[in-house]
Formats: sequence, structure tokens, C-alpha cells
Amino acid sequence: MQSIMRINCKPFTCLVVIAVFASSPEPSQGTVVEPVRARHAMVVSVHELASQAGLEVLRAGGNAIDAAVATGFALAVVHPQAGNLGGGGFMLIRLADGTAHFLDYREKAPAAAHAKMYLDRRGQVIENKSLVGYKAVAVPGSVAGMAYARKKWGKLPLARVMAPAIKLAKEGFALSQMDCEALHDEELARFPESRRIFQRDGKFYEPGETLRQPELARTMERIAANSDDFYHGSLARELAAAIKKGGGLVTAADLAHYKVKEREPLKGSYRDYQVLTAPLPSSGGIVLLEALNILEGYYVAGMGNRTPQFIHMAAESFRRAFYDRAEFLGDPDFTKIPTEGLVSKQYAGAWRQTSMDAEQATPSASLKRPPNFGVTRQRSAVNLRQEPTDTTHYSIVDEAGNVAAVTTTLNDNFGSRVTADGLGFLLNDEMDDFTLKAGVPNMYGLVQGAANAIGPGKRPLSAMTPTILLKDGKPFLVLGSPGGPRIISTVANIIMGVVDFRLNIQEAVNAPRFHHQWMPDKIYVEKDFSPETVAQLKKRGHTVEEDGQWSDGECIAIDLKTGDRLGASDIRNNGKAVGY
Ligand code: GLY
Repeated sequence: MQSIMRINCKPFTCLVVIAVFASSPEPSQGTVVEPVRARHAMVVSVHELASQAGLEVLRAGGNAIDAAVATGFALAVVHPQAGNLGGGGFMLIRLADGTAHFLDYREKAPAAAHAKMYLDRRGQVIENKSLVGYKAVAVPGSVAGMAYARKKWGKLPLARVMAPAIKLAKEGFALSQMDCEALHDEELARFPESRRIFQRDGKFYEPGETLRQPELARTMERIAANSDDFYHGSLARELAAAIKKGGGLVTAADLAHYKVKEREPLKGSYRDYQVLTAPLPSSGGIVLLEALNILEGYYVAGMGNRTPQFIHMAAESFRRAFYDRAEFLGDPDFTKIPTEGLVSKQYAGAWRQTSMDAEQATPSASLKRPPNFGVTRQRSAVNLRQEPTDTTHYSIVDEAGNVAAVTTTLNDNFGSRVTADGLGFLLNDEMDDFTLKAGVPNMYGLVQGAANAIGPGKRPLSAMTPTILLKDGKPFLVLGSPGGPRIISTVANIIMGVVDFRLNIQEAVNAPRFHHQWMPDKIYVEKDFSPETVAQLKKRGHTVEEDGQWSDGECIAIDLKTGDRLGASDIRNNGKAVGY
């Protein structure tokens, strides 16, 4: 099929290109799959029991925010890899009254943290110190965030909202094959409390066996009775004592000083849709909008879904947005960040005109920013580090039209692997999301700059991207995913799947993924891409690496004609969309 693609690229390379695309989609694109349809409300998460917890609370008269809190606490029980009490997260809310809110309950560095805390005497990063064990732990925000959300926007008492999670912890739940495989984590075995609870002291759980967590149930009952106890009461003292005993830095004073922040959601648009997304300290919204703004100048639909031309152009947009991420982004309470410039349509236009090449990859090392957009180079140090991928996202729409998109994390799978003694919950390793040292890639291979250096009380830069799209002011898509930096390309691809390629939400979530993050300079592709597609990308100058499967889109679309809620849980995992 022949398509005409309008391209605004380097002035002397082209203005209009008539291109012949092999618009035949990748093989796995052929099957039509339908989302779960419900008339009134929908909850979608990575675990059926967590989705059911949200649904139970909706049926009991709660709204989307009550359900978000119920699902969040339930995930801490049934998905200990990422669901948590000992981590942090972001909740994006669009209420039926048209207001939008963003809750930042990201973890904070403890007061004793400092820029060189993960370096040895020679200035080298000490392997795993920011990832495994007590020193990796930042001050957790999840309990404060969920309690705050329920109190401000929920309708039901906290004890009611937490009841399903407490029951799951007390009575236990049957483990799936996937759960059991995850619990074989070698690092968990290093910490006796984690080994005892999650690995039965080496007698590993088999699929179908019941995992009961009485200590966690007790902790949750205490939170349900008084959530403030986690930060100012006996729970805070017990947690601080457990961390101190293990050699960590988080103190009772750090817990007492923890504050949830309400931030203005980041707003933008993609074609005819308004986008509400995550502001700093997540890089997610900025990178998402910058990449989509660049792509908006092209006739993406004409390129064909998952064709080499589309993948090339999308990857080039991600490359540029991630380049800016590396250079500029960090905690906005500590550093001035040029957000407005980065997400402006003019800046995206300048990228298209001065830099994007429709035919050939631009090597990351030679990338140059368009001048004169207030987005100037600020500092020389950039950090090439990887970020962990193990987070979880859930989406909720209630009967009244309130919407919650929540992404929460311990950072790495099971976080630091430390279970707080006697309290039954895992602690994060979110300190690894800071820049540990300029020039050293983090767990996700991500490049980060001085704006994200460790400092007492700072929040590490995140990639979590809870996002809501509106059409004519009405909620249309509720989106998010885990996957570290791949969260952002996953969300962008689901948006383009629905908006540009007219996929239904389930097809868009299932579609094969690709990702570029500037450094390392390569396109990562899921295993489903054909050798021809990979060869075509290589011909354009890309290094291509096949990397299995990743991320976990747990998303909802709202049928704009009927109002039906359409739930899409990712085929890659055991999640579930449930509604009524
Ligand atoms: N720790 C993963 C993220 O915040 O992006």
C-alpha cells in the first residue's frame, strides 16, 4: 500500500516525502482481541485479587479513590514484588467535577543521605549498595499517600477500604506459578525475615499453596486504626529501630518529617486529545509529552503500525526526549527545571526542523539540541546508569466518572529485599533512582544528571507515568505501566495505538513494544518483531537488541458513545480487568 507522509525534517533533506511502506503489521498484530466491557465501573491491575478488592469497595459505595486505596493495599499483600507499604507512588486523579489532582508520595532520601554515599574511597560505585539491603532504603511514602487520598477524596472509612487487603493478608491467597517463580529471588534469601515469610526458609511455595502474612495483617490493622502511627507513633519507632539494627539511614525523625505533596498535573495534548500526566519528580510526563509533541508533526497513521518507518520515527522522538531527561530532570523542589520549554510545541517543532531525520538514525553521541528554546545545556555531568523495572500500575473508573491512575513501586523487584522485622512488609531500594555517580549507568542503563544527585530530603527522579487522556473534556483513556524508563515508551505506544492506529485498548496494550532511551544508543524490541523489521531498522543505522518482553499496561478506555468502561489487562501478565 502506498502512503503519503508529510514530514518536517532537516530543511535540506526533505519537506514532503512520498513513501512506500510495507504497511503489513507484525504477525502478532493480526488477532482482534476485545477488552473487558462494563457499564458502570472498572478496576484493572496486575492481580485479580487486587482488582477484586477495588471492585468490592466500589460496590460498597466507595468511589474511584477509595477503590484505588483498596487496590493499593491489596497489591501490597498479593504482589509483594511491587505493591507496597514500604515504597512510594503517584496517584493521578480526574474527578467527575472536572478537576484534576496529582498526589506525589514518592520516597525521600533520609536526612543522613549524601551525594557520595554509594561510592568507595576511589570514587567508584559500590556494586549493589543502592539496590540491596538497608542502605538502599529511602523514606517510604505509600501509607501517607494512600491515607491522604482517601481522607481528601474518598467516601468510606480507611478501615473499610483496607478490609479486603487485611483479609487477604490474614487468610492468605493461593499463589500462581508466576508468583512462585518470582519468590525464588536469590537476594530475598539474604535477609532472614524475607526468607522466612516469602521463601518459607528455603521450602519454596508451590503454585496453588496459600501464602498467609499475619505480621503484615497486624501492621495493616494498626494502619487502618490510625495511619499516622506509621509516621509519628509506635509503628514509626518500630520501623526506625528495625532499619537502624540493619544499618540503614532512615530514622524516626525522617518518618515524622515525611510529607505527601499535591502537585499540579502536567498538561499537554496529542492531536485532538488532552493529556493529563505526571509532573516532576517523575520524568514520565515531560518525556511522554516531548516525544508525542515531536511525533504529532508527522502523519503517524500513514506510516503503518509497527512498520520500520514508524518504529524509526518514534524511537528518534524517544531518543531526543530521553536526552533532555538525562540533562535536566530531578526533584523540582531542589533544582529549577525548564519544564515549560521542554513540553512546548515550539520546542518539538524545532527538533523536527533542525534534527529529526526521516531516513537515518541520529547517533546519540552527536545529538544537538535546537537553540533558543530556554532549554540550554546546564551542566556537564551526565550519568549513565540503569533503573529497575519492577513497579506496578492500576487504573480505575467509577460509576460517577471519577478516574484514578496509580503507579506504585519498591523500585526493584521486592525493593531492597529487606522485610521490616516484625512488621511483615518489604522496604524499597528507591535510593538507586538517584544519580549515584556521573557516567555510571543505573540498573535501567539510564543516563541522569546533576539535577538528580542524592541530597537529604530529596525525591529521586522517577519514570512512573500515570496518564489520563480526555476527549472534549471527558475521560477517554486511563493509562500506566511498570518498566522503569520503558514505562514512558509503553504509555506513548498505547496512546499512539489507540489514537493513530485506531486499535482498541486491549490491542494497544498487547501490541509488541519497542523502546529507545538515548543511552545506550539502541532500539530495544520485544521478541515478536520479525527479522525483516529488525533488518530494516539496522539499515537505517540503528543498533537493535531483542529483549524478551517487558512492562505491564493495566489500562482502561471509556467508550465515548456509550460510556462503557473497557478494561485492558496486559496479556504479558496475570492481571485482571473487573467491572460491573
Ligand atoms: N523506581 C521506578 C521509577 O520510579 O520510575
